[in-house]
Parts: sequence; structure tokens; C-alpha cells
Amino acid sequence: MSLTICLIEGDGVGKEVIPAAASVLGALGLPITFTHAQAGWECFTQQGDALPEATITAMRAADATLFGATQSPMAKVEGYRSPVLAMRKLFNLHANLRPTRSLPIPGGREGIDLLIVRENTEGLYSGRERREDDGQTAITERVITAAATERIGRTAFQLAARRPRQQVTIVHKANVIKEGDGLFREVCLRVAAEFPNVQASEMLVDACAMWLVRDPARFDVIVTENLFGDILSDEAAGLIGGLGVAPSANVGAGKVAYFEPVHGSAPDIAGQGIANPIGAILSAAMLLAHIGATEAAARVERAVQAALREGVLTRDLGGAASTSEMKDAILKQL
Ligand code: NAI
Ligand code: MG
Repeated sequence: MSLTICLIEGDGVGKEVIPAAASVLGALGLPITFTHAQAGWECFTQQGDALPEATITAMRAADATLFGATQSPMAKVEGYRSPVLAMRKLFNLHANLRPTRSLPIPGGREGIDLLIVRENTEGLYSGRERREDDGQTAITERVITAAATERIGRTAFQLAARRPRQQVTIVHKANVIKEGDGLFREVCLRVAAEFPNVQASEMLVDACAMWLVRDPARFDVIVTENLFGDILSDEAAGLIGGLGVAPSANVGAGKVAYFEPVHGSAPDIAGQGIANPIGAILSAAMLLAHIGATEAAARVERAVQAALREGVLTRDLGGAASTSEMKDAILKQL
């Protein structure tokens, strides 16, 4: 059996962390064929398209895609649309899985093993925005549908059913946002009833933000809408070493799935060879688990932990190791 993995470096530190993750994948002795494709801001400036047709074709042809990061302009640019949002919509990748597990990093919190299951296609990221009142009022519509909520709810409960603690916390703000979050809550609770073995509870998003800081070990699976999941997952990453070590998966019902570090293009450190490759490497491990190479995935995770335990740390973690030194330390453990 041969595996095809499509690599998209994208912008900024994506060009540094994806090659590092690819060399870890390449060291596992698996029959992997790599393909390469372009997406992102630089791609847009060169080709006029942030997600060219050739990239879509390469993603469809691969067993999975490993993506770096994209740099998105703060203001609107004619013709540009974030390739990340476009990929999620195009391939119907309804679930964004963001695990946070304690790592042996100085100052990192211990005992955390949680998974944020974030709705990936709607909410405030639906792109339904407009200006009124001579441009002085901006309106962003937050779309919550029963169909998308049911899909994400079911994904969360199915994943929880396979985890040791079998707990799901449904996170919302239904006390204030009565329609949107009311529907989200109602549908998730209905899905919960289909999983009698999984313990379901609910929590308001502001309280969840507080409990994540005070007692993160209490959480197993958190299911929530798009923006809440985006924010809470960065917060969770901050408990264990920061964005440099946080992986994620974008999955749906179809064959296409892509895996990416949670961080962005990090323009402040790009090009210096100091970016932490662990977020990308752990994303590669999630990719392996997704395509059934679970033992290889576990090997990569163990190698990352062992390298950190040896004290090899990039600057974001308080050390002085470069991207390639960190990668080499992980390769040595493999
Ligand atoms: P960012 O994640 O790029 O950087 C935030 C902070 O974390 C910076 O101080 C950066 O140096 C640090 N950091 C990020 N990755 C790191 C790594 N691998 N090793 C060490 N330190 C790391 O977020 P920011 O600065 O808010 O956004 C920069 C650009 O990235 C923007 O254009 C934004 O739109 C884009 N972005 C793209 C994402 C994606 O491709 N999925 C996600 C988040 C932001
Ligand atoms: Mg984010």
C-alpha cells in the first residue's frame, strides 16, 4: 500500500515547518509519495489565485494534505479569499479537531488531555458581512444551522466514545444569543441522547474560558461553534507551550482532509529558521492516525515528547534550538 501526501507550505514559517514535518514523515519507513502544491498569499500575488485549480486537484488525488500557514491581509483585497476558509468550504471539512495534550515543556501545565471539536463551516466565519449607514455600521451575520450543528455534534460524541473518559462539554452562549446558540445547544443535546455511554454537560463559553485556565484537566472533549472554538483552542495551546506546539485536523465525510499547525504565518519570525516545527510535526502525526497509520502516529508523538524531555527547545519554548535542530532531535528519537 502506498500513501500519497500532498504538501502545501503556504506562507511565512509554513515554508520552514512543513519541510521539517515532511522529513519526519519520510523517516518512518512508510511507502509515502509526496506531492507539492501551492496556496496562500504569495501564491495569490504570483498566480492571481490563493487556491489554484491545480492545488485542488492535488489535494483530491492525495490520501491527505499537510498544510503550513497562510498570511491573510487585514483589509479586503479584491479577488483574494483565504485559502483556509475556501478549502474548508470546498471539501466540506465540517470539523476542526484541535487536541491539547500536556508536553514536557518547562512551565507547561500537566495533566491536560483535551480535544476541542470546532464547527468549521459557519458561525461568524460564513462571510455574510455588509456595511450600512454610509459605512458606519458593520453587520456580520452569524449563521448556525441544525444540519451543521448535528454533524459537528455527532463527530464530537463519536470521538468522545473512543476516548478513555468519554465526556463531552457542549460550549455555547445560549443565555444571551438565544437563537443561534439556543439552536446549537438544543441540537447538541439531542445528539447527546444518542450516546448514552458518553457523559454530556454544557457550559457557557465565558465560564469555559475561565475553567480552561483554572482547571484544564477537567475537560475531555469540548464541542463548540466556529469562533468560540478558534479562541478557546488558542487559549488551550497557551497552557502547554503555545501556538508553536499546537496541531489540528480539518476533516469531513469525504476523502479529502488536511492537517495544519494551529499557528499562522508568523511574519515576526519568518525566514529566520527559528520557528517551532512541533505543531506541524504533531499535525503530521494526526494525519498518519487519520489514514490508519496509528502506530507510526504514536511513534512520532513519542519522539516529540522524548526530544523535549531531553531539553531541546525552540525559542518560543524558552530554549535556543533552531527549527532544524528541533527536527533533528526528533529524528534522532525515531
Ligand atoms: P501567528 O500564529 O502567525 O503568530 C502568533 C505568535 O505566535 C507570533 O508571535 C509568532 O511568532 C508565534 N508563532 C506562531 N507560530 C510559531 C512557531 N511555529 N514557532 C514559534 N513561534 C510561533 O498569528 P498572527 O501573528 O496573529 O497572524 C499572522 C498571519 O497568519 C496573519 O496574516 C493571519 O491571517 C495568518 N494566520 C493564518 C492561519 C492559518 O493559516 N490557518 C491561522 C492564524 C493566522
Ligand atoms: Mg486561530
